[in-house]
Amino acid sequence: MKTVLVVNGPNMNTLGWRETGVYGAMTLEQIERNVIAAGEALGLSVRCFQSNHEGAIIDEIHRARGTADGIVMNPGAFTHYSYAIRDAIAAVALPAIEVHLSNVYKREPFRHVSVTAPVMLGVVAGLGPIGYELALQALAAHLANEG
Ligand code: DQA
Repeated sequence: MKTVLVVNGPNMNTLGWRETGVYGAMTLEQIERNVIAAGEALGLSVRCFQSNHEGAIIDEIHRARGTADGIVMNPGAFTHYSYAIRDAIAAVALPAIEVHLSNVYKREPFRHVSVTAPVMLGVVAGLGPIGYELALQALAAHLANEG
């Protein structure tokens, strides 16, 4: 069975009460439960990880090498400036899909730039929590084609 690592970056642990007008009311725990269930339906094992610390996220991405087949990731604000996370994704060379709950292109100009997107297979933005499931579905199709 293929394994997908789902990574959430800083402040994603506050979902449920954080700026609910922007991010909705669903908690990260609920999102993770849904993505694990979506993985089961797709025949994928899903491992979830969240951290507010850049280094911890990088360590987890490194651990994915040899223990996971792909990555779904919402880097939070690190999206906009973490070259280190971008390099970690490039280093492990696993197919990765970036997810944003909000439509970052409708928001402040600093959110229009993703330094991580260029090393991703694709990006899902603005569709809310279902974005994680859509990313997982796309990754499942990609992994099936890869063999
Ligand atoms: C986010 C968008 C980022 O700009 C922001 O810093 C986040 C969440 C999203 O899911 O919409 O923390 O990645």
